[in-house]
Amino acid sequence: MNDKNADGSRPAGSLADEISALLRAGFAAAFPGCPETEAAGRAAPSSKPGFGDFQCSGAMQLARALRIPPRAVAEKAVAAMPASGLVEKAEVAGPGYVNVTVRPEALAARAAAIAEDPAGGVPQTGRGKTVVVDYSSPNVAKSMHVGHIRSTVIGAAIVNLYRALGYEVVGDNHIGDWGTQFGIIIKGWREFVDREALARDPVAELERIYKESNARAKDDPEWMTACRMETVKLQSGDPENRALWQDFIRMSRHTFDEIYARLGISFETTRGESWYQPQLAPMVERLVAAGLAKESRGAIVVDLRDFDPAAAAESRKAVETALAKGDEESAAREDGKWICIVRKEDGGFNYNTTDLATMETRQKDYAPAKIVIVTDDRQIPHFKQLFAISAKLGLVSPETETVHVAFGTITDADGHPFSTRKGGMPKLKELLDEAAARALAIVKEKNPDLPEAEASALAEAIGIGAVKYSDLAMDPATTIRFSWDSILSLQGNSGPYLQYAHARIRSLLAKYAAAFPGEDWRSAPAACAEPLERALARRIVAYPETVAAAAAKCKPSVLADYLYGLAQDYSAFYQALPVLKAGDPAARAGRARLCGAVAEVLKRGLALLGIKAPDRM
Ligand code: ARG
Repeated sequence: MNDKNADGSRPAGSLADEISALLRAGFAAAFPGCPETEAAGRAAPSSKPGFGDFQCSGAMQLARALRIPPRAVAEKAVAAMPASGLVEKAEVAGPGYVNVTVRPEALAARAAAIAEDPAGGVPQTGRGKTVVVDYSSPNVAKSMHVGHIRSTVIGAAIVNLYRALGYEVVGDNHIGDWGTQFGIIIKGWREFVDREALARDPVAELERIYKESNARAKDDPEWMTACRMETVKLQSGDPENRALWQDFIRMSRHTFDEIYARLGISFETTRGESWYQPQLAPMVERLVAAGLAKESRGAIVVDLRDFDPAAAAESRKAVETALAKGDEESAAREDGKWICIVRKEDGGFNYNTTDLATMETRQKDYAPAKIVIVTDDRQIPHFKQLFAISAKLGLVSPETETVHVAFGTITDADGHPFSTRKGGMPKLKELLDEAAARALAIVKEKNPDLPEAEASALAEAIGIGAVKYSDLAMDPATTIRFSWDSILSLQGNSGPYLQYAHARIRSLLAKYAAAFPGEDWRSAPAACAEPLERALARRIVAYPETVAAAAAKCKPSVLADYLYGLAQDYSAFYQALPVLKAGDPAARAGRARLCGAVAEVLKRGLALLGIKAPDRM
């Protein structure tokens, strides 16, 4: 079933998938011709140690279809299961569960194989398929603040997860490089650019220009008109304005690239909003011709109520009731849920129009299995409308899955909006600098003798890892409470905790090599006799399906949870069972092999989250 790894080897594969296949075969042989057997044979890791390694509840579902008591269904299926070297026993328990216990040697061998497989045993189900991930996507002439880190870090992890499954992944940085804000900046630039400030921090100066010019436009109609003129000139190709605009983009991208380099992130393509400009007018024409868009108060809009009569009646009633009460605000809000403006009153196109063209281009260029877009949750209504209209106009194929990964905001430890002493969101760069500085203090305390260059490289890996992990450990949809102490803690669920667990194993194995120079733990069978060893092996063999589940749900947190559990299992094992001091050389080598497998899986999993795993800390 599994495709080959990129290097031609066969992935070690998912043990749960293989046990499921055995169960499915058992159900199918016991109840030939019953279509439900396919779904019934699904093995999930057992919830409790007494219930074997895998558990299947399929007999309960089948019993209803077959009108046979569930225990009898389970017993027949178990009797018909094909023989396999993997299975020690399969037993019926409780109302009709099938509990499968894997042979300890098979479990241990699989754990080692997964850790040593270049693909981590992950089934290459994505081979030959493409996923587009639209992430980071900051806006030109504005600095990236901590809110942007979420899209960047979550998006990059999603890219890695799909790639681990063998997908071709196109990471696309859809930067905001078009729109009316450029007229405002150009006007401000002409009037009051501060060249010195610009040389010091170009993006900060562009931001200042925007803010001041925008504020003037608010109470000076002449200024406002001048800004509009500059936008029109830019959009109609005026060479001077275009050159300025290109300069703004160049300066901004330079600043963004510094951050990406520091985060270890790169994109396959950076197609900003401006890239789609030539497609916008024809897109609106097509929407109108297809009867999807219509004129409304000078603008061209798609009213999604036109395609959903039941919801429409209710929504229109809500609007009327609000208007009857004179509550125009509620009425507008209700309309806004359904109405998508694709050409403004002044003839200009907007974010909606650009995104429709973006959807179509991605479909045409990549024929992707999925398009994933990562932004904050204020854009949920936008993407609902976008995906609905794209499907109606056939911009994306019905086979293409469209996913909006929406994340919540970051607040401080008390749940208040994140702010620095000076006020406002901290800049991303300042946040990363502080993380590295705080990590450096910890590194120096733990290793006072480490050379300066090594200490700061380590601190950068720990600080950045901590910031990334704090973001990835939570379900993307939740609000993050940010606290320096908890993200850098070596005890709790943090990046440094996982990095430390990994480094400790590496140092243990280095000690092993020094103490027993003639012994090669790498060729010893991994230990699996003791319950704590078995628990560790079971956790390791769950790695392939964990990666698959994290990708399918677009939730890197699924993988983060797993790694934290693995580190905890390891720590329980290590506290109870000696490795270097084990009396029996075979147990010593077997435990070392198991430890080595844990280190590999930790390192591999952290890498998918974009986090480095240094060998020492
Ligand atoms: N530039 C936008 C922002 O900062 C995000 C763009 C997301 N991608 C998209 N195709 N709309 O909010």
